[in-house]
Parts: sequence; C-alpha cells; structure tokens
Amino acid sequence: MKFICVGFFCLLVGTNLAGAQFPRACCTVESIQTKQCCPALGSDPANICGALEGRGSCVAVRVDTKPWGGPYRLRNVDDRERWPTKFFNQTCRCNGNFAGFNCGQCKFGWTGPNCDQRKAPVVRRDIHSLSPGELVEFLDVLDLAKSTIHPDYMIATQHWLGLLGPNGTEPQFSNISIYDFFVWQHYYSVRDTLLGPGRPFKAIDFSHKGPAFITWHRYHLLSLERDLQRLSGNENFAIPFWNFATGQSECDVCRDDMLGARDPANPSLISRQSRFSRWGVVCNSLDDYNRLVTLCNGTNEGFIQRGAMEGGNMSLPTMSDVRSCLGIRDFDSPPYFTNSSFSFRNALEGYERPDGELDETVNNLHNLVHSMLNGTSALSHSAANDPIFVVLHAFTDAIFDEWMRRFVPSNGTFPDEMAPIGHNRDYNMVPFFPPITNEEIYVASEQLGYSYAIALGKRSYI
Ligand SMILES: *[C@@H]1O[C@H](CO)[C@@H](O)[C@H](O)[C@H]1NC(C)=O
Ligand SMILES: *[C@@H]1O[C@H](CO)[C@@H](O)[C@H](O)[C@H]1NC(C)=O
Ligand SMILES: *[C@@H]1O[C@H](CO)[C@@H](O)[C@H](O)[C@H]1NC(C)=O
Ligand SMILES: *[C@@H]1O[C@H](CO)[C@@H](O)[C@H](O)[C@H]1NC(C)=O
Ligand SMILES: *[C@@H]1O[C@H](CO)[C@@H](O)[C@H](O)[C@H]1NC(C)=O
Ligand SMILES: *[C@@H]1O[C@H](CO)[C@@H](O)[C@H](O)[C@H]1NC(C)=O
Ligand SMILES: *[C@@H]1O[C@H](CO)[C@@H](O)[C@H](O)[C@H]1NC(C)=O
Ligand SMILES: *[C@@H]1O[C@H](CO)[C@@H](O)[C@H](O)[C@H]1NC(C)=O
Repeated sequence: MKFICVGFFCLLVGTNLAGAQFPRACCTVESIQTKQCCPALGSDPANICGALEGRGSCVAVRVDTKPWGGPYRLRNVDDRERWPTKFFNQTCRCNGNFAGFNCGQCKFGWTGPNCDQRKAPVVRRDIHSLSPGELVEFLDVLDLAKSTIHPDYMIATQHWLGLLGPNGTEPQFSNISIYDFFVWQHYYSVRDTLLGPGRPFKAIDFSHKGPAFITWHRYHLLSLERDLQRLSGNENFAIPFWNFATGQSECDVCRDDMLGARDPANPSLISRQSRFSRWGVVCNSLDDYNRLVTLCNGTNEGFIQRGAMEGGNMSLPTMSDVRSCLGIRDFDSPPYFTNSSFSFRNALEGYERPDGELDETVNNLHNLVHSMLNGTSALSHSAANDPIFVVLHAFTDAIFDEWMRRFVPSNGTFPDEMAPIGHNRDYNMVPFFPPITNEEIYVASEQLGYSYAIALGKRSYI
C-alpha cells in the first residue's frame, strides 16, 4: 500500500527526476531528442561507431527484463530503471574486442590497433611496497586527475525533464575533472529516487547492498585506472591497494607521504603537509539536491573530512576475517540484500559476519573500514572524494579476485533475477556508459587486464 501511495504521489508531482553522465559528443539537443548516442570515430562523420573500419554499429540498447526484488517496488519513477534507455535507446555496439562509446577503444584486457592482442596484466601492488618514486607517481597522477577536465565525458546538472534547459535548446551538462567524474558516478549510483521536491525515496542503491556491489566497484576502478593510464601516458600504470586487514585502530596509509595524516590543529581535516588537504569535495550535499530537485553539478563543497577513529575501541578488520569470508562458497544468496546469509558478497561488503552468519549488528570488512575512517568516507554518496576510497576498494576487489580463483564460479552463480534493482546479472550497471552488464565484469581479473601481487591463500597465513 505504502509503495502504491508513494508511486501515485510521484506520478502527480513529477516523474523521471534524473540526469546522468554521457560522452561529450552526445550532450547535444539532437542526440537527446533522438535518444541516439552513436558518435563517429575520427573526423569522418560517416564513420559512426567506427563502422567504416568494421569496429561496430549503432543498435538498440539491450536491457534486463527479469524481475527485481528488494525494497524498491516503484515502476517508471526513477530514470535509472532500464538503464540507460531513459536517455539513450541506441548506442554503439562494438564488434570483437573493440569497446567504448564510439568503438575507439579496446575492451579491458586487450590491446593493439585491432584490439586482438592480449594485454599483459598490469599488476596492482600493496601501497606499502611501492618505491618512493612509484608512490609519488601514483599521488601525482591522482592530483593531475583532480584538476584535468575529463577528455570524453560530461555530467548532467539537471534532472531529465530539465535536461535541455527551460527553452529546450540548452543541454544542461557540465565539464568535470577526471577524478570528480569518478566521484560523481558513485554519487549517482547511490543517490535517492526523487519523488518530488524534498521527497526522496532512500531505499535504493545501484552499487551496494546486493551482488552488483562487487562488479560495480570493480568496473568503477578499472575505468579510473584506464583514465589514469591515459593521463600519465603509462599504459602499465596500476592503482595500488591498501591491505586494511591490519586489526589495528589506526589507518597506516594516513601519512603525509601517502594519503594524508590528520591535521593536528583540526583532527577532522587532513594535514596541511599533504596535498590532499587541498582537495575539494563534490556531490556531498544530497539533501540540498533533493530539496532543490537538482543533481550534483560538480562544484566544490569544502574539504575532505576524516572523523576521529575511536582509538582503542574500534579496530580494522583482521586477516582472519578475510580468510573467513574467503571460505564462503556461494557468491550470494536470496534475497541478495543486506540480510543474505552465507553470502560471500554480503560478508565482504560487511553486513554479515565474516563466517557468513547473519547478525543485524555486524559491521565488518568493507563497511567497517568506511565507518572507521568516518567523515567523508562514511557517507556513501560522498565517500569516493577521499582518495583512500581507491586503495580501499582495490583491496576489496583483491579479496573477490582470490575468491574467484578458489571457486572458479560459472556466470550462473550471479543471480539473474530477484536481486534489488540494478543488481541482476544482465542489468546495465548505473550510470556507466556505454552500457555494460554485471555479467561482463564477473570474470577473473587477468581477463580484464590486471592482477594483484598478493597472496591471500591459506598457505601464506597459516
Ligand atoms: C527510441 O527513442 C526515440 C525517441 O523517443 C523513439 O522515437 C524510438 O521509437 C525509440 N526506439 C526504440 C527502439 O525504443
Ligand atoms: C529562452 O526563452 C526566454 C523566454 O522565451 C528568452 O527570453 C530567452 O532569451 C531564451 N534564451 C535563449 C538562450 O534562447
Ligand atoms: C568542456 O571542455 C571541452 C574540452 O576541454 C571544451 O571544448 C568545452 O568548451 C567545454 N564545455 C563547457 C560547457 O565548458
Ligand atoms: C551548482 O549547485 C550548487 C548547489 O549544489 C548551486 O549553489 C550552484 O549555483 C550550482 N552551479 C551552477 C553553475 O548551476
Ligand atoms: C565519527 O566522528 C564523530 C565526530 O567526529 C564521532 O562522534 C563518532 O563517534 C565517530 N564515529 C566512529 C565510528 O568513529
Ligand atoms: C565502544 O563504543 C561503543 C559505543 O560507542 C560502546 O557501546 C562500547 O561499550 C565501547 N567498547 C569498549 C570496549 O570500550
Ligand atoms: C530481508 O530484508 C527485507 C527488507 O527489510 C525483508 O523484506 C525480507 O523479509 C528479509 N528477508 C530475510 C530472509 O530476512
Ligand atoms: C555465461 O557466459 C557465456 C559466455 O558469455 C554465455 O554463453 C552463457 O550463456 C552464460 N551462462 C549463463 C548461465 O548465463
């Protein structure tokens, strides 16, 4: 009943309050009106999707049609349903190993002019094992990404109804830096469904609280890593990981030569000796966007906050927690949500005990690290502003990668229906563009062109 009422309200007040991030080439009145995003590759306008080189063609978008479960029961209210068809129903589909919005790139894991050579996996290493030069290269490229306009993508700054501006002639898109684009994507995937001014429906999340937690964050990191490779001109660049399973109450990467120590004068800020003390946050004011019926437009909203880690009382996860979750055979289990038990995903995400027992009070592994960092990292819409997010999620992904190596799961182990919206196997992950399903990313990391220099297997930690 409640849901129907809410649904009614939203039909009356204003449906489809959303926008998104798309290639600059498609942020035009014509593209939006025709719902076609099939840019030409190179300078010849006839080379749509690289068709003249046999790279791809412009076709109708495929969307998941299986039923979803979870708390979001509304229909045709949120523009992220049947992603991305509210915005575009025709996109490039690339042949072979070609990829990208105009088929100008290779799929992850492939290289060469015809994208037919396997790329040697880049190796993601422990941040503590980087040489001083490698560490500085990582921090420098993050800094550069924070200030460099994304070469290909723009963000929408208004909801779908207002996407062409009041006169229907001015697309409401904004440039954004490469790193802030990464932040915006995370915000957009977790933001509320807006039923009207100041009327958010909050029980929706396209990237957490379900099986897509794993695949979504994996793709998110891969995209950033590729952007950083392009930016640095080093195609072997790999993001490092932070092994957060120290069992300690202090964050050992929170140092000025890494991701920033605490500012002694104001412990909720980063030390001025760290470059990250100067990083502004974007997409933090969720309540304001809801009230104003708008979207995060990428403006600076202050500085990264790190809350007080309650010294002595709370501690980070342990290697025993990691080993424990690696013993769970099932990738996920019904209802594929925060109350799934004996679900590897739910244990790693942190809503069940590492051994798979469900206990409502549990806060472990990935979730525990976010909440211990507190401040910006503890707010899911804002968390990616803190660069710790990158190394934290790389380690989370390394644990998943070890799990894959152990159990070699078939794609059928990823639920194809009744997961919460966005989390079914064939759902196009929101807001990635061009469309990519969860299933396409549910493969071993080597196939995607990277690997981890880490041994999480039993042998190394007996
Ligand atoms: C795509 O959207 C356009 C514009 O709304 C519409 O005319 C067309 O029928 C749609 N095509 C498909 C395949 O849904
Ligand atoms: C938009 O429409 C308003 C009112 O019709 C007009 O005054 C204004 O100049 C238009 N703006 C543009 C950019 O066309
Ligand atoms: C966005 O950036 C591109 C490339 O730097 C530039 O050509 C374009 O004019 C910018 N657009 C806006 C709206 O600022
Ligand atoms: C961006 O959004 C903020 C509120 O979040 C608003 O104050 C500001 O005017 C917006 N900027 C533009 C250019 O629309
Ligand atoms: C987060 O920080 C706030 C104040 O900075 C503090 O009250 C709270 O206890 C902290 N939470 C955790 C989990 O450390
Ligand atoms: C830790 O803090 C929580 C709540 O802040 C409190 O309930 C608990 O008793 C504390 N534990 C210890 C060991 O101090
Ligand atoms: C899981 O949580 C959902 C939403 O709170 C609830 O509807 C469902 O009954 C729960 N399922 C189990 C197995 O606990
Ligand atoms: C698994 O993936 C393969 C290759 O993409 C596909 O042919 C097969 O149908 C998929 N299996 C399931 C159960 O979806």
